[in-house]
Amino acid sequence: MKKGNNIESAIIQSVVLKDDEDALVLLDQTLLPAEKKFLKITEMKDLWEAIYELKVRGAPAIGIAAAFGIYLGTKASTAKDSEALYVDFKKIKEYLASSRPTAVNLFWALNRMEARFKKEEGKTPQEIKIALKEEAEKIREEDEAVCEAIGSYGLSLLKPNWGILTHCNAGTIATSKYGTALAPIYLGEAENYNFKVYADETRPLLQGARLTAWELKEAGVDVTLICDNMASIVMQEGKVQAVLVGCDRVAANGDAANKIGTSGVAILAKYYGIPFYVCAPMSTIDMDCKTGKDIHIELRPHEEVTSKWYTKPMAPEGVKTYNPAFDVTDNNLITAIITEKGIIYPPYTENLAAIFES
Ligand code: MRU
Repeated sequence: MKKGNNIESAIIQSVVLKDDEDALVLLDQTLLPAEKKFLKITEMKDLWEAIYELKVRGAPAIGIAAAFGIYLGTKASTAKDSEALYVDFKKIKEYLASSRPTAVNLFWALNRMEARFKKEEGKTPQEIKIALKEEAEKIREEDEAVCEAIGSYGLSLLKPNWGILTHCNAGTIATSKYGTALAPIYLGEAENYNFKVYADETRPLLQGARLTAWELKEAGVDVTLICDNMASIVMQEGKVQAVLVGCDRVAANGDAANKIGTSGVAILAKYYGIPFYVCAPMSTIDMDCKTGKDIHIELRPHEEVTSKWYTKPMAPEGVKTYNPAFDVTDNNLITAIITEKGIIYPPYTENLAAIFES
């Protein structure tokens, strides 16, 4: 990405390791756009809560935070040998893994940290801790390159002056840099593509309004905020030429779980003949899930629908609610899946398997 433009200067690192302070510094995404506040996390309990409460959110960012967290948790262990350290490591791993169920990047990052631990077995606790730090940093660094590659592949599918609709937030703060679904937009902006972005507000937690509209505006991208129920009209009016979304887990057959409401957008896109692209790092593809039916969809608290962001009640007291945080978009609605290894088209079962073998 061209350096020195609005985008580079607007980018915020949402997850930073402060090793000298035994802390993880997280941008509190629940306070945006009103307040840009960083939290200093030193306890695993606080990291668990930060993930659960979406202070750090977005599949890649959750994975990076968990990798740094597991390093910091293990670093604090007083275990005298690698076996005892492994016992402490496993406890932290299981604890962090219980924070949110849908984004596979969390489990992917934790498993990768465990694989690194095992590679170092027999070494001193100090040597293992150094290796864990190195691995967590590698996960973060690799994510930057992944986002940039997704950006380039994604941009190759887009044309200047297009209208692009996105849902939720798959931007810089959801990753280490550039985002996934927003990476092609940032890259295009740096090359004067002049995109017009439509950001769905993304009820109930308003990631589109609070985060996507905010970060694109900060970077000088032309962004228009719409309520979720306006996606159809902007498509009908010819304002949207492509949909780009991020993703929390892709099953082996190409079904893709993303923020609640994504599948509705995909159905609309199909109806209006608009390409629907899922931007997914390889770490988001879970070949152990055969289809979307195997993806665990997180259910979130009632208050998020009735009252969380509002000073006045938004619903009658005691009303029943249903609050799934994600839904699964059927693979037949997905035009292509954009990864750092290339653009994957249907048939997904064959082509996803092939990309893992390549
Ligand atoms: O509940 P959230 O805000 O963590 O959900 C995030 C999403 O659905 C994103 O689209 C997805 O994690 C991709 S982030 C690059």
